[in-house]
Amino acid sequence: MPRPARRAVTAAVEYAVARAGIVAVRALDHDVIGQAHHPRGAAGRVTAWEMAHRPSNRQRSAWVVSLLGVRPASRVLEIGFGPGLAVAELARAGAGHVYGIDHSAVMLRQASRRNAAAIRAGRVTLIRASVDQIPPALDGPFDAILAVNSLGFWPAPAQRLAELRRRLAPGGRIAIAAQPRCPGATADTSRGAAREIEELLTAAGFTQLSTQALALSPPAACVIAASPGSSAS
Ligand SMILES: C[S@@+](CC[C@H](N)C(=O)[O-])C[C@H]1O[C@@H](n2cnc3c(N)ncnc32)[C@H](O)[C@@H]1O
Repeated sequence: MPRPARRAVTAAVEYAVARAGIVAVRALDHDVIGQAHHPRGAAGRVTAWEMAHRPSNRQRSAWVVSLLGVRPASRVLEIGFGPGLAVAELARAGAGHVYGIDHSAVMLRQASRRNAAAIRAGRVTLIRASVDQIPPALDGPFDAILAVNSLGFWPAPAQRLAELRRRLAPGGRIAIAAQPRCPGATADTSRGAAREIEELLTAAGFTQLSTQALALSPPAACVIAASPGSSAS
């Protein structure tokens, strides 16, 4: 068998074996939503692995980063970085410094491994913290803030968004993205999620909202917004 075909077969077998492992662990831990909210223990590790390897998650993270248009001097903060896919994209896109928080120790370990070189180079800083207790070291100001499939888990999200707004530099932007993962989710579910994000951002004092969709199944929605008085367009 030619080498590329052998590699593809090996990858497919590895993925199938890993999926079987996920199904087995899930059979022992039915708290799938709880694991997405706060991955812990063995079930948390397989949830993290699945998040990192799902092709739609990779596409979604790269897309959200592309919408932010980061520059070499940009200081960026991600809330709920999970396995660190968007952090890696931001570093690849040339962001000056990427900061991230996630309240899960499992996710901090996975994201730190995935971004080890950028962390060593002093371009990425990942911290274990909850969005309602952001450490003072991350007061900002930031040129961009993002959260992907995370806001739905935050306590008092409008209040959290208002706190994040105060951390944005003049001209800075926030990107909040969601791809509904509930069983039976459709394009309508994604539109509903986008409307909820728009309402929360407006309640938190953001302006200049712009909503985009990425054609996945179901679609991912991303709302970009600015702080009033900033020169973002
Ligand atoms: C569904 S995962 C999404 C991960 C990643 N953003 C992605 O798209 O691949 C949600 C992440 O948000 C994190 N999270 C949930 N609530 C949080 C909170 N209050 N503070 C910080 N992180 C939180 C979880 O630990 C988890 O890593």
